[in-house]
Amino acid sequence: MATRRPLVAANWKMGGSQQLAQELFEKLSRLHDGLSEVVVCPPSVYLDSVQRMLSGYGQELTQKLVSLGAQNLSHQEFGAYTGEISGAMLKEFGCSYVIIGHSERRRMYGETSDMVAEKFAMAQKMGLTPILCVGESLAAREANRTFEVLTGELDAVVDKVGIMAFDNAVLAYEPLWAIGTGKSATPEQAQEVHAFLRQRLTGLSPCVGEKLRILYGGSVKSSNAADLFNQPDVDGGLVGGASLNASEFTTLCRIAS
Ligand code: G3P
Repeated sequence: MATRRPLVAANWKMGGSQQLAQELFEKLSRLHDGLSEVVVCPPSVYLDSVQRMLSGYGQELTQKLVSLGAQNLSHQEFGAYTGEISGAMLKEFGCSYVIIGHSERRRMYGETSDMVAEKFAMAQKMGLTPILCVGESLAAREANRTFEVLTGELDAVVDKVGIMAFDNAVLAYEPLWAIGTGKSATPEQAQEVHAFLRQRLTGLSPCVGEKLRILYGGSVKSSNAADLFNQPDVDGGLVGGASLNASEFTTLCRIAS
């Protein structure tokens, strides 16, 4: 069985500040080397300064596998797309990861599964590792359509890029009803879905499915992280609100290690 290094990713959404990055890196640099990898995804205007801070710590943080991610990228490579940011630019500014298909982007900015698949492909073309988000609404869960929704979102990407592309990707299960609500999925609910997602991918390629890290996102905090992260198919978390507090997020990283 593949061993998967736990990963904790901070999605600051439209929050955070340069000061938060400073506080966070200070705390992470004092953390003992652990097993977990950490990715910080600030709003794009902060990428440059956050990257400089990160490099300022040098090996202290890179050895701990702390790296930078973006929250979105354009599905186009270059051109007249006002307000968009390309994968090449994210790469130039030190990003290693990029969040793709977050439900807030699907819901509020009309990103379809096809666009999400294109962004996934573009991220990889530019040398970025996509963190692909999938998740069902409360209505879908209550109608017993959870697996159907997740299958649709996942298959749209697999059909476009092929299963082998998931060899260099991260999947995040974020049930919409748990995002920012304070009501996380139970460890059992998370495990059930993660196992389902892994099985689906393992059915296409056993080694890719076994190796793929699947993060849980939705009201993760220090009081529930241990139970969630201890599930066999939960390989860490994608953290929103709790990542805006340096102490709380550092605690989550410690729990994941
Ligand atoms: O991407 C992280 C996310 O949507 C979860 O947000 O605030 O519930 O941790 P939050």
